[in-house]
Amino acid sequence: MVFRGMNTTESSSSDHQVPGGATPGRDSVDLQIRPPALADGGEMWRVARDSGSLDLNSSYSYLLLADHFSDTCRVAVLDGRVVGFLSGYLLPRDPSRFFLWQVAVDDAARGHRVAGRLVDSVIDGLPGVDSLVTTVTEDNTSSRRVFQRWAAERGATLSEVTGFEAEHFPDGHEAEPLLVIEGIRRS
Ligand SMILES: CC(C)(COP(=O)(O)OP(=O)(O)OC[C@H]1O[C@@H](n2cnc3c(N)ncnc32)[C@H](O)[C@@H]1OP(=O)(O)O)[C@@H](O)C(=O)NCCC(=O)NCCS
Repeated sequence: MVFRGMNTTESSSSDHQVPGGATPGRDSVDLQIRPPALADGGEMWRVARDSGSLDLNSSYSYLLLADHFSDTCRVAVLDGRVVGFLSGYLLPRDPSRFFLWQVAVDDAARGHRVAGRLVDSVIDGLPGVDSLVTTVTEDNTSSRRVFQRWAAERGATLSEVTGFEAEHFPDGHEAEPLLVIEGIRRS
């Protein structure tokens, strides 16, 4: 895996060493973000499986997402390999709200705002959307950082409300509070 396109304007002390020997700045990973095709569904499943923290859904569901929901999903491709994905859909009762279901980035590609760029791409492709909602467990610090930073970049407010509570789940799953990002500035 090779990271290209050094961007020295945003390098910071929190940069992370990546395979290939480079230590690129936060926004410097030169990768392609695009809607998935059916053929990407299997890799979306793999990234979810390897993420270490996502609920892994059936492989069939990732094929559905890649095939039927490509307008509201994205993959991040580096050197021809999927290294991250985002899945989501417009809320059926309010299509001005984008529900972000899952976002994951392979361990080796983390720390370079790949997740933020996936969110940028999907929201910029949905001009009718004015808010983003997602659920994030209390302890998922990395994910919370992604949404806090993204909301700030877009001049939006981020609030947290009750989402799916522990008692809703049949299997001991922890609560999933709902993050609501409103007032998104268009880039
Ligand atoms: C959450 C996740 C998608 C973030 O992706 P990313 O592209 O690395 O995001 P960022 O580069 O913006 O980093 C976000 C935070 O991750 C942490 N981070 C940074 N580099 C990291 C690394 N190499 N490894 C692990 N975490 C790292 C930091 O806390 C960072 O915030 P900071 O820069 O303000 O310190 C990714 O960590 C992941 O796939 N996690 C597992 C799946 C998951 O929990 N998804 C969210 C729930 S749907």
